[in-house]
Amino acid sequence: MEVQNVILLLLLTINLAITQNTSREEAQELHVGVILDLGSIVGKMARTSVSLAMEDFYAVHRNYSTKLVLHIRDSMSDDVQAASQAIDLLENYNVEVIIGPQKSSQAIFISKLGNKSHAPVISFTATSPSLSSKTLPYFVRATINDSAQVNCIASIIKTYGWREVVPIYEDTDYGRGIIPYLVDVLQEVDARVPYQSVIPLSATSEQITLELYKLMTMQTTVFVVHMSFTLASLFFIKAREVGMMNKGYAWIMTDGVTNLIDSLNPSILESLNGAIGVEFYVPKTKELDDFAMRWNMRFQIDNPTDPPLKLNIFGLWGYDTIWAVAHAAAKVGLANATFQKPGESIEIPRGFKIPVSGKKLQVGVCTSGYPEFVKVEKDHITGATKAIGFSVDVFEEAVKRLPYAVPYEYVLFSTKDDGSAEDYNDFVYQVYLEKYDIVIGDITIRYNRTFYLCYIFQAEKVSKRSWGAQNERRCSPLPSLA
Ligand SMILES: *[C@@H]1O[C@H](CO)[C@@H](O)[C@H](O)[C@H]1NC(C)=O
Ligand SMILES: *[C@@H]1O[C@H](CO)[C@@H](O)[C@H](O)[C@H]1NC(C)=O
Ligand SMILES: *[C@@H]1O[C@H](CO)[C@@H](O)[C@H](O)[C@H]1NC(C)=O
Ligand SMILES: *[C@@H]1O[C@H](CO)[C@@H](O)[C@H](O)[C@H]1NC(C)=O
Repeated sequence: MEVQNVILLLLLTINLAITQNTSREEAQELHVGVILDLGSIVGKMARTSVSLAMEDFYAVHRNYSTKLVLHIRDSMSDDVQAASQAIDLLENYNVEVIIGPQKSSQAIFISKLGNKSHAPVISFTATSPSLSSKTLPYFVRATINDSAQVNCIASIIKTYGWREVVPIYEDTDYGRGIIPYLVDVLQEVDARVPYQSVIPLSATSEQITLELYKLMTMQTTVFVVHMSFTLASLFFIKAREVGMMNKGYAWIMTDGVTNLIDSLNPSILESLNGAIGVEFYVPKTKELDDFAMRWNMRFQIDNPTDPPLKLNIFGLWGYDTIWAVAHAAAKVGLANATFQKPGESIEIPRGFKIPVSGKKLQVGVCTSGYPEFVKVEKDHITGATKAIGFSVDVFEEAVKRLPYAVPYEYVLFSTKDDGSAEDYNDFVYQVYLEKYDIVIGDITIRYNRTFYLCYIFQAEKVSKRSWGAQNERRCSPLPSLA
C-alpha cells in the first residue's frame, strides 16, 4: 500500500502537467524507461510481464487520457551500462519515470539521476535494505526489502536450537545489504556468527571449492546463503561435490534463490536437495492460474529459443508495477513470507559438531619403548585405534587449541607384534610417503629426519625446521599447522 501511495504522489506532479495539455481525441503520452538485465532469467521474465501488463491495462481502460509509452533497455548485468541507459532515456527520450533497474547496485546511481531529473525510479527487484527513499527521495521500491525475511530465518534457527550460523553471501550491494539485519536478529535468538563467508561475484569454481573446504574445517554446520541466482547455482553444485549437501549440514537460502527455484535446471535442483528456502507467499487463485497460462504462452512467443519458465514473484511484481504506474494506484500483490521444506533427511543437524565428512587427518602412532609416552591399543568392539600417553595428550591439547575443528584418526604403524616400531626413521618416513599426515610420539629431532618432515614438534620446546628450498613444495600436507 505504501508503495502505491508513493508512486501516486510522485506521479501526481507529472500527471497534472500532462492533463493540462490533454486533447480529447488522442491520449497524452507519458514516456517511461524500463531498465532490466534482459539476458538474465529475471530480466526476461519481467519483460514479458511488463508487455503483458501494458496490453491488459489498456484493454480495460480504453478511454484513459494518458497512455504509457515504454522504452525498454538492456543493462546487460552491468552497473555502468545501466547508468548510461538511464542518462540516455532521461536526456533523449524525456522519460518521466524509470521502472527498474534490476540490481541494487545499479539502483543507487540511477536513483540519484532520478532525484536530479525529478523522475521517480521504481524498482521491483532491487531489494537491498541499504536503498531507502529516506536518502534517495526518488527511489521507490515496488517490492519488499531483504530485511523482511531475516525474522523468518531467525525463527527457523531458533526452532531448531542452532547456536552458530555462518552467513555466506555475494560481495555486492545486494549481498551485503541484508547482513547487518541478519546478524541482529540472530543475536536476538542467541545464535553466534563466528565467521562470514564473502564470495566475489566473479568467483571461479576453484575459489568456491577452496572456501567450502575452509567452511568444512569449522565447527559450524548451519549456513545462510544469500546470493543471486547465477552464483548460487555454481555454489551449490560445488557444495554438493565436496559433500556438504549431506546429512549433518543445514542450508537456509534467502528468497534470491528460492524465488527462482522453479526455473533451476534439474542438475542444480538436485544439488539443493535438503536445503530450506525462504520465499514470498502468493495465494493461489483462479485468476492467477489463468494469468500464468497466458503469461507462459506470451513468454514462449517472446523467447522462442528458451525453455519455458515458471512465472514467479518477479514476473508478478513487474506486471503490477506497470499497473501501479499506469493507474498510479493499482495493487501490488504480496503476502507474508513463508518457507518451503525443496529435502528427505528428517534428522535435525546438530549445528555444532566436529565435521565428519571429508578427509580426516591421518595420525600415525606406534607403541613407544617407553609406553608412558605412547601406547597404542585396538578397541576390540569398534576396531578403532586408540592411543594414550604423554605425547598423545600433548597432541590432543594442541588440536583443541586450534581456532577450528580438525577431525583426525589414529592409524597404527607397527613392524612388531606388540604394536611398536622397529625403526623410528622408517616411522617418520611414512609422512614423506603421504601415508600419514602427521606422526606423533617420543621422536627425537635428528637432522636427517628433517628432510622428510615439514615440522617436528617436541613436547616442551617446539622446534620448527623447514625443508631445503628445493623441497618446499612437498611441505603442504598440514596447512592448518603451517
Ligand atoms: C500540447 O500538445 C501539442 C500537441 O498535442 C503540442 O504541440 C504542444 O506543444 C503542447 N503544449 C504544451 C504546453 O506542452
Ligand atoms: C525494509 O523493510 C522493513 C520491513 O518490511 C521496514 O520496516 C523497513 O523500513 C524497510 N527499510 C527500507 C530501507 O526500505
Ligand atoms: C536530491 O535533490 C535535492 C535537490 O533537488 C538535493 O538537495 C539532494 O541532496 C538530492 N539527494 C540525493 C541523494 O542526490
Ligand atoms: C638418519 O641417520 C641415521 C644414522 O645417523 C640412519 O641410521 C638413518 O637411516 C637416517 N635416517 C633417514 C631417515 O635417512
